[in-house]
Amino acid sequence: MTSAQWTPGEAAAKDPHDRPERPWWQGAVFYQIYPRSFLDTDGDGVGDLDGVRRRLPYLAQLGVDAIWLSPFYRSPMADFGYDVADHCDVDPLFGDVDIARELVREAHEHGLRVVVDYVPNHTSDEHAWFVDARSSRTAAHRDWYVWVDGDPATPPNPWMSAFTGGPAWTWDAGTEQWYLHLFLPEQPDLDWHNRDVVDAMHDVMRFWLDLGVDGFRIDVAFLIGKDVPLGPAASKPEPSAYTHELMRGFRKLVDSYPRERVTVGEIYIMSTRAVASFYGDNDELHLNFNFPPLYAPFEAAAWRQRIDEVVDDLDPVGAWPVWVLSNHDNPRHRTRYGGSEDKARAAALVLLGVRGTPFLYQGEELGLCDAVVPPALRVDPGGRDGCRAPLPWEAGAAHGWATDDPWLPWPPDADHVHAAAQEADAASFLHLYRAAIAARRRSPALRHGAFRWLESPPGVLAWERAADGDRAVVVVNMTQAEVRFPGSYELIVASAASQGGWQGALGPWSAAWLAPR
Ligand code: GLC
Repeated sequence: MTSAQWTPGEAAAKDPHDRPERPWWQGAVFYQIYPRSFLDTDGDGVGDLDGVRRRLPYLAQLGVDAIWLSPFYRSPMADFGYDVADHCDVDPLFGDVDIARELVREAHEHGLRVVVDYVPNHTSDEHAWFVDARSSRTAAHRDWYVWVDGDPATPPNPWMSAFTGGPAWTWDAGTEQWYLHLFLPEQPDLDWHNRDVVDAMHDVMRFWLDLGVDGFRIDVAFLIGKDVPLGPAASKPEPSAYTHELMRGFRKLVDSYPRERVTVGEIYIMSTRAVASFYGDNDELHLNFNFPPLYAPFEAAAWRQRIDEVVDDLDPVGAWPVWVLSNHDNPRHRTRYGGSEDKARAAALVLLGVRGTPFLYQGEELGLCDAVVPPALRVDPGGRDGCRAPLPWEAGAAHGWATDDPWLPWPPDADHVHAAAQEADAASFLHLYRAAIAARRRSPALRHGAFRWLESPPGVLAWERAADGDRAVVVVNMTQAEVRFPGSYELIVASAASQGGWQGALGPWSAAWLAPR
């Protein structure tokens, strides 16, 4: 079976409740893989694409519909792959293009779609385009990047680099101009006002779409078309009307391919209303990350507000929400919730029970906490090592990896907290995630049903989801006391392993999915 012939979403397509006109990515659960930390098969201490291939059965059994792979492209790894030196090649650390193609094909055989990271805002300073650009002011690729004349002592504007705390500008002594980098100096920003850049980066998309991928997670999508005002008064980088035009270009290109492929924007703006604008008039990105809930404490008022923002700002414009609790850029949510197992388990039923498309981050299905990385072992200039700890698959010093010396230390308590132990324990996080994802798959209400708040006691959130005559109620106790939730219900899934059936009450920090009788 070639990927071009493959008809995705087999499990969902067989569901008689599924409306054929509903795009697959609205009912899907996505799973983010950070390849460096997933599974190493060749003993260099860094995870690789063969490691992902080996665990496709695990992912299929977890029940997710799609994976998103963080960058595996050729890179000097100043930002661990988000500094791309060749968008159309695989870094030897991870494998090669044939292995990537094989991974996509095998994933499809397992009923999993594959979304890859697309990094358009900047390249590596070792990318051939930038090497040429930097070689002289008249080089062919010079104006593919943002160069500004000036005084070597005064950066052209006050923008700061995201990770260094220094200016977002580096003086190039060889050609005596500044170049822009919103991230590390090793990540020069491309100039998307240059049509050649647009064309070349569209070709990158075509390369991966032709190879069979199902879409892109678009890094820093919101800033690629930014204007660059000069002078000391310039305000921070903002999305521009041109950025939205570029999003329409991506959408058109991706939609021109057979099978429904998807674009997911990384919109790092803490305003759900601003996130809404990246859906355009259903002609920009299909999905966009909405990060305010990721930063919300596990408190009822905070979550009520975050959910209301989605209901008020996304739903009315027909924008399908994305929900995420953890990723490779932030402390894991269990860590943010003080390490609480109860809160992290309840959060799983929130994430998978709100209306929209949930994104899991590798290891959250094991309830992992961040690794505590001693200063001598820290490697990320952005301070994000903790959430990037390698996944422990088994007991033993190497935890299933081909070496016991991975690039970052293992997460806490890895001798006991690993996939094999959780496989054997019906009360584990892994079994909770599997049960919830399976229940969601069976329930049109949970997958894509309408949302409506229900009355609930203080500190408790309750809502109903309804579709096609199917109904489900989600109730979350965000307090440390037991609460009663009256009504005639049957238990679908409970976050607390001790909750055998439904007796009308929820323990502290716990959640349940209920079916009205
Ligand atoms: C995004 C990525 C992050 C990366 C940055 C620069 O925010 O998620 O990991 O460092 O872009 O590419």
